[in-house]
Amino acid sequence: MKRLLALVLLCACGGGRPRGPMSDGERMYLAKCTSCHAAYEPAERTRVKWVDAIDEMEAKKKVHLAPEERALILTYLTGSPAGAADSADARTNPVAPKR
Ligand code: HEC
Repeated sequence: MKRLLALVLLCACGGGRPRGPMSDGERMYLAKCTSCHAAYEPAERTRVKWVDAIDEMEAKKKVHLAPEERALILTYLTGSPAGAADSADARTNPVAPKR
């Protein structure tokens, strides 16, 4: 029983992310985007919604991102530096595949 508890505690310290070392994008995201709210999970939003969310944060002056920083964060969140290769398309065409 004690051993099980220790194991549970050990797992909890991993931050709930059973992944390898953090990518630059993840580090940038955590550094830039979690000072005001908890980190939203990448899977919570589609690519288009992530681009919108970051646009909104920038428009509201919550965050200022250099283009490289934005690209890194978007790569972490969506798998692509522009949010999506077809993001302009996806924005105007709601039936375009999101992920
Ligand atoms: C200076 C504080 C601050 C920083 C830094 C910040 N945010 Fe936010 N964010 C907010 C506030 C406040 C809200 C909720 C109220 C609002 O929408 O204005 C919010 C809401 C959000 C939401 C939810 C929007 C919705 O409609 O559900 C997302 C997603 C988000 N932020 C992503 C980000 C990302 C990505 C970054 C980094 C690029 C970031 N935030 C950096 C303050 C911040």
